[in-house]
Amino acid sequence: MSEEKVGEAMNKDIRAKIVGVGNYYPDKVLTNHDLEKMVDTSDEWITTRTGIKERRIAAENETTSDMAARAAKNAMKNAGIEASEIDLIILATVTPDMNFPSTACFVQQKIKAINAAALDISAACSGFPYALSIAQAYIQTGQFATIMIVAADKLSSITDWEDKNTCVLFGDGAGACILRSTTSKNGLLSLYLGSDGRKSDLLCMPGGGSANPITHKMIDERLHYVKMRGSELFKIAIKKMVLSAEKALEKCDMTIEDIDMLVPHQANIRIIKAVGARLNLKDEQVYTNLEKHGNLSAASTITALNDAILTKAVKENDIIVLSAFGGGLTWGGAVIRW
Ligand code: UT7
Repeated sequence: MSEEKVGEAMNKDIRAKIVGVGNYYPDKVLTNHDLEKMVDTSDEWITTRTGIKERRIAAENETTSDMAARAAKNAMKNAGIEASEIDLIILATVTPDMNFPSTACFVQQKIKAINAAALDISAACSGFPYALSIAQAYIQTGQFATIMIVAADKLSSITDWEDKNTCVLFGDGAGACILRSTTSKNGLLSLYLGSDGRKSDLLCMPGGGSANPITHKMIDERLHYVKMRGSELFKIAIKKMVLSAEKALEKCDMTIEDIDMLVPHQANIRIIKAVGARLNLKDEQVYTNLEKHGNLSAASTITALNDAILTKAVKENDIIVLSAFGGGLTWGGAVIRW
């Protein structure tokens, strides 16, 4: 099929609409004061430099798919649908249960979504807008009617608990949503995605894949943990998150004045505040939950959106803008009329 034909096959009058959401956070809380006993850090440093006070940590035997399945069940309940109605599960993560098979297949089995196809996507902290773009395309082409997006990360499993530069930032958790097609004006209005593979080394886990397979040497070199060049990422994160919001708005002929709520990737309160300021938003127009959860990578933006929805911080017809940025590098924005 030529590109033109693919375009023709899309029905632009149809859009994806979120019809149910659910989150899952593990019980165990790890506070900044707990971290003070593990590495040379302080609650004061973590709070002022990141805005994070605590994060949830999954149990040792609790996998990414366990957390994803619990969020998925909460989303199905919220949407009032049965697992058998789901046609496709799209799962975003940087901490799959295994390299293969896909974590989406483990979730499919755990929630008994017997009629669903299942696939994983790898877009790090931009996983949610990337997953939304796939769901939107499948819905517009009519290929699938009911799609579950689930984003989950057990970052504690790839965190170097001896590295104060990274271990204070991350947490564990999962968010899910169910999408269906709609011709109403409410739903997913636009998407914008970008990436820059030239800067992949700024945030990565070098070990465990084909580049550095699992060997004693690789483990001795601690390559199986997250590596991050934080201050270099900081500036790019602000630029790309502002760009993602602006481009997504432009694509649906809206401007910053139309935004009711910005739901940004929850990496650092200073990044979030800078993005909000550049977009000329008031503090109450910018949703944050990182104080309690830290950075959840793929699960970050979706759990923040779901928390905003579940606590009624957004109301019907509000214009919500999502803006994410992460490893890859990848970034993405979306506009949703709730
Ligand atoms: O999710 C994907 C996207 N993620 C991001 O975009 C993350 C972006 N980066 C950040 O959020 C910030 O850069 C960090 C929070 C990672 C670091 O904050 P920073 O203000 O950029 O600090 P820095 O890396 O420039 O380090 C400043 C100092 C250093 O000490 P010296 O060399 O100035 O003496 C670090 O060793 O802070 C030190 N430091 C710490 N001190 C206490 C780094 N981590 C810690 C710590 N506790 N946990």
